[in-house]
Amino acid sequence: MEPMEITAGRLHLRPWRPADAEVVAEALRDPEIRRWATRTPEEPDARTWIADRTAGWADGSSASFAITDATTGEVLGHIRLRTPGDGAGEVGYWILAGARGRGVAGHAVGAVARWAFACLDLSRLDLRHAAENPASCRVAQKGGFALTRLLTEPSWDEGDETVEVHLHTLSHG
Ligand SMILES: CC(C)(COP(=O)(O)OP(=O)(O)OC[C@H]1O[C@@H](n2cnc3c(N)ncnc32)[C@H](O)[C@@H]1OP(=O)(O)O)[C@@H](O)C(=O)NCCC(=O)NCCS
Repeated sequence: MEPMEITAGRLHLRPWRPADAEVVAEALRDPEIRRWATRTPEEPDARTWIADRTAGWADGSSASFAITDATTGEVLGHIRLRTPGDGAGEVGYWILAGARGRGVAGHAVGAVARWAFACLDLSRLDLRHAAENPASCRVAQKGGFALTRLLTEPSWDEGDETVEVHLHTLSHG
């Protein structure tokens, strides 16, 4: 997949770059991001994390964007669209602690959904989050994603065996 940039009002979405390693390292240390978004017991290495996101563009498996302030270029968060190839995509995201509560995630999800439906020929987008993460549930609701299923999945946290998950879906058209 050709790396893309998307400007959506006050946000600019662009591929991650090696020079973003410091801000990625900060995010990967954030307890909320580690709890809800990265789902690994160990803190991943920032350069490896960026290389993995870059590889997703090259092999067509995912499109990962740094969410930045369109005016200042400041990195505010991350959004990824996985494209498993069955006409459906799945979005995931995190926002840096200092940029939360300003509608950034909802705005970025809307921008990626419009791009996915217009340019990638996808017919459906899924969004899943832990049931205990009401902020992410609100992002899904604001993006027009309907709550379609309640799932019980194996936990990424060694202390718990399962986790309750909301699956939200947005259909094209
Ligand atoms: C979840 C997250 C992405 C939201 O990002 P954000 O840019 O702050 O989201 P928005 O500002 O677009 O919207 C957040 C909404 O959740 C609401 N919210 C925040 N905390 C909440 C809580 N504890 N209970 C209920 N609603 C909550 C906000 O009020 C807001 O809704 P509103 O616009 O109706 O007021 C961000 O908090 C984050 O990165 N958290 C850690 C990682 C994570 O959870 N990633 C998602 C994994 S599925």
